[in-house]
Amino acid sequence: MDDILQLKNVSKTFGEVAALHKINFEVGANEIVGLLGDNGAGKSTLVKIITGYHPPDPGGEIYWKGRKVDHLSVAKARDLGIEVVYQERALADQQSLWRNIFMGRELTNRWGVLDLGGMRNETQKLMNTMMGFTSAAVTPDSVVKTFSGGERQGVAITRALYFQAELIILDEPTMGLSLSETKKCLDFVEGIKKAGKSAIFIDHNIFHVHPVADRIVILDRGTIAGQFKKNQLTVDALIDRLQRLAHTGTLDISPQTAA
Ligand SMILES: Nc1ncnc2c1ncn2[C@@H]1O[C@H](COP(=O)(O)OP(=O)(O)OP(=O)(O)O)[C@@H](O)[C@H]1O
Ligand SMILES: [Mg+2]
Repeated sequence: MDDILQLKNVSKTFGEVAALHKINFEVGANEIVGLLGDNGAGKSTLVKIITGYHPPDPGGEIYWKGRKVDHLSVAKARDLGIEVVYQERALADQQSLWRNIFMGRELTNRWGVLDLGGMRNETQKLMNTMMGFTSAAVTPDSVVKTFSGGERQGVAITRALYFQAELIILDEPTMGLSLSETKKCLDFVEGIKKAGKSAIFIDHNIFHVHPVADRIVILDRGTIAGQFKKNQLTVDALIDRLQRLAHTGTLDISPQTAA
């Protein structure tokens, strides 16, 4: 599998705090990577480097589709096709569904005027296909405030896929969601896989990550403590190793030992 993203030797220090220490991390084409780690492990810092928000410390390298990217910025990352879906900031509550889909990337007609009809029509199509909104009560003009947590994640993921994101990063998308809403959110992550795109799915909960991830990477205090392909380890064996990590502070996961 070709990697679309590679981080080599990436560190990030904030004053005295080494949030990331010499990380090597990659995401394959059409791969869903589950990123697990405790509070403060460095997960969000990793995301911020990938999205161009933080530069890595000198010596760290970022490659996109095999090409080295210097001076990655937020705008550049977006141009490359890297999109983040944040739980809280995913949608503008008071705005309609169609405005949320096209926010910042509005369709215009040839006179440069907003194409309201076009945006409503496209939204309706997305509702019928990717979002799976079948209730007649929801229209492109519905205000998203009333949507459930899982639906909101779905809108954000749909928007990213619609605009051809290649890599969608979800930073704890299931936080605060009920079981059924979490299920919905995971279905949307599967939609990313089906669309042929890649994702990094961050969560504290192994039971959320495991069903949808092709590979799971464990971050522990700024370093990668273990990683393995899902089919190399049962969920029980994984939990066993995570518990050992919690007890000893080290993790003996490697593809070799994970037969
Ligand atoms: N802008 C910053 N300035 C100073 N320290 C920071 C900054 N961002 C992160 N840190 C520190 O870096 C470490 C890693 O933080 P990070 O937010 O990446 O963890 P996380 O794995 O996302 O945790 P959580 O699960 O709580 O979201 C923490 O010790 C944090 O306090
Ligand atoms: Mg975080």
